[in-house]
Amino acid sequence: MNNQFDLLIDSFLENKVGIDAGFLSKDLSNGLQQNIRELQKDDLMTDAGIGNNKVKDSQQKMRGDKIYWMDKTRNNIFEREFLLQVDDFINHLNCTCYTGINSYEFHYAIYEEGSSYKRHKDQFNNDSNRKYSLINYLNENWLEKDGGELVVYHDKTVQKILPQSQTAVFFKSDEMEHEVTKANRDRMSISGWLKRI
Ligand code: OGA
Ligand code: MN
Repeated sequence: MNNQFDLLIDSFLENKVGIDAGFLSKDLSNGLQQNIRELQKDDLMTDAGIGNNKVKDSQQKMRGDKIYWMDKTRNNIFEREFLLQVDDFINHLNCTCYTGINSYEFHYAIYEEGSSYKRHKDQFNNDSNRKYSLINYLNENWLEKDGGELVVYHDKTVQKILPQSQTAVFFKSDEMEHEVTKANRDRMSISGWLKRI
């Protein structure tokens, strides 16, 4: 059966990193980017922390992005559409790969000019609930000179991905080390994790 999600899942199964350059529709990608701009204007995007400590250390230099957690109850039209698409994706993943995902969390992220995120894995040392990472990019016409590449470390090779709008990237949270190189212009995305709790 051919499904809109098979491109992402098949490339993940083949290469450990799934990529679909058209995962989000253009309208949805633009709407979500507009949401970040509004959150930024209202000063609601806040310094991201590391790990899952209740008290975040905003002085840490590991990552420079600012984030805002998504929430279905906010009733924003684009956010709802995005999370419904995530629900559909999880259903398809659970049916085809028996992954048993039963929860998720997503946040908006903006890397302002000069920001980066050093090499890391997404699963916390003290909490293995995060099974898969799903990142969606919201930046039109991103060029190599804009920096802000996602660099994924495979066993013997290094993969670089530009954060182009509509593109989704999908990998196992406990397996793939990755980093975000310094962005030379505002870089917007939605990062999230599919969880088994
Ligand atoms: C993260 C992350 C990568 C990216 O949020 O944990 O690694 O390309 N993001 O935005
Ligand atoms: Mn990460």
